[in-house]
Amino acid sequence: MKEAIEQIFKELEELKATTQKEAEEARVRFLGKKGEITALMEQFRTIAPELKREYGQKLNELKKTALSRIEELKSSAQADNAGSTPKEDLTMPGDAFPLGSRHPVSIVRQQIVDIFRKFGYDVAEGPEIEDDYHVFEALNFPPNHPAREMQDTFFVSTGHLNPLLLRTHTSSVQVRTMESQPLPIRVVCPGRVFRNEAISARAHCIFHQVEGLYIDEDVTFADLKQAILLFAREMFGPDTEIRMRPSYFPFTEPSAEVDVSCNICHGKGCNICKGTGWLEIMGCGMVDPNVLKASGIDPEKYSGFAFGMGVERIAMLKWQVNDLRHYFENDMRFLSEFATATEV
Ligand code: PHE
Repeated sequence: MKEAIEQIFKELEELKATTQKEAEEARVRFLGKKGEITALMEQFRTIAPELKREYGQKLNELKKTALSRIEELKSSAQADNAGSTPKEDLTMPGDAFPLGSRHPVSIVRQQIVDIFRKFGYDVAEGPEIEDDYHVFEALNFPPNHPAREMQDTFFVSTGHLNPLLLRTHTSSVQVRTMESQPLPIRVVCPGRVFRNEAISARAHCIFHQVEGLYIDEDVTFADLKQAILLFAREMFGPDTEIRMRPSYFPFTEPSAEVDVSCNICHGKGCNICKGTGWLEIMGCGMVDPNVLKASGIDPEKYSGFAFGMGVERIAMLKWQVNDLRHYFENDMRFLSEFATATEV
């Protein structure tokens, strides 16, 4: 028994463990139910009483040494493991980085512009703060036309002949194009416009337009109709039909409102088209000779057509959004619906 105790002391001294598992194995080997020290304890019960004192002490010492040695091994294995094995699980997939996307109004404005670009139109832009001349005067608005009133127009400065104001349509850009570009002219004018309207589901004081202008020799109403039909089919699908209703604008004669066949019920009548089967999308007409004259273009030689549409209106129809205000509130839940809606 003496030798056995000495032997275990020696082994304990040389004992090594690099992992928790090895340390636990050592505990089982010496102190487990069938462990070497446990076996010696059993044996101790049977030895001669005069030896009990001596061996009892030795055995207790051995057990203590084993316990502290194994404890030591366990904690050093733990420290080593903490150093080499990171707590993070490196195989876990990373957090998705939230990607921004274009605003639905920008997407639709770009789609409209891209369609007309395919038809050979250039893009023209102009100032949002305009003067009365380019927004009204050059476009044949009579001096007392109601659109010039405070109720419709935001004025920046008043009290003189050509007050500054926030443009109420991008037709002002068409005037600037006629003033500065050689003929023939074929442009679309996308941009933000401002009207003094009460904000509701159907109207806002800020919105976006794309207007177009085509001036050349022998441009006819048939050209206008064809251009609009091709546009409508590109925008709303190849089965789309259009119809034109007589209307009035100071800068076009004749003038028309354009409706497209409802792309939701396909003409049968639904609550989006209010049962009519048609959706109004834009105003258009043949450029009034007075407008050509005001910009120094000879109406005897040249003729042209113009059209203008609201981008939010087209977007509402395209995506069946029933409240215009969604486009201005920048609610992420709404905007993220359009994250993948970039195709025409
Ligand atoms: N400027 C008109 C508007 O803002 C739209 C339009 C443009 C109508 C060109 C006819 C021709 O409502």
